[in-house]
Amino acid sequence: MVSIKGPIPECSRLLTATLTAAVVVAGCASLQELAPLVGEEAVRLAEIKGIDPQRIQGGRAVYVTQCARCHTPERVGRYSVAKWHQTLPRMTPRAKLTPQEAADLEAYIMTTLGVVRAASAVD
Ligand code: HEC
Repeated sequence: MVSIKGPIPECSRLLTATLTAAVVVAGCASLQELAPLVGEEAVRLAEIKGIDPQRIQGGRAVYVTQCARCHTPERVGRYSVAKWHQTLPRMTPRAKLTPQEAADLEAYIMTTLGVVRAASAVD
């Protein structure tokens, strides 16, 4: 007789992933609000910063897939640059990102923050 103590980790993880996928699919319109698409301004900003725009596209893909395994993507503009610099090193191992994926993700987050902040600047 096998006794099970507490939730089975693999099962609860699978359930979470399934629920997350359902939320992401159901809320397609708002996914773009949470994780803005890479637009012209982001590409321009990337070029100014010397970042290959392909990397920020790849970074968004990482964000909306690998970073959405446990929770829906957080609104990128919700956190400051400093807060993201604290959060990313904690989250990239959880998402098991390669160094390249982590660098692309950071490029996406930082470029997007620049665009979001510029759009909401008052003067
Ligand atoms: C293995 C599950 C898991 C994965 C994968 C994951 N996260 Fe998280 N994330 C969490 C949990 C749990 C929390 C709640 C706070 C905590 O535990 O630190 C969280 C919280 C957050 C927060 C809220 C801020 C904070 O400090 O609490 C942000 C932003 C975030 N995650 C971003 C990401 C990003 C970006 C990725 C992809 C690199 C990611 N997460 C991948 C589990 C995960």
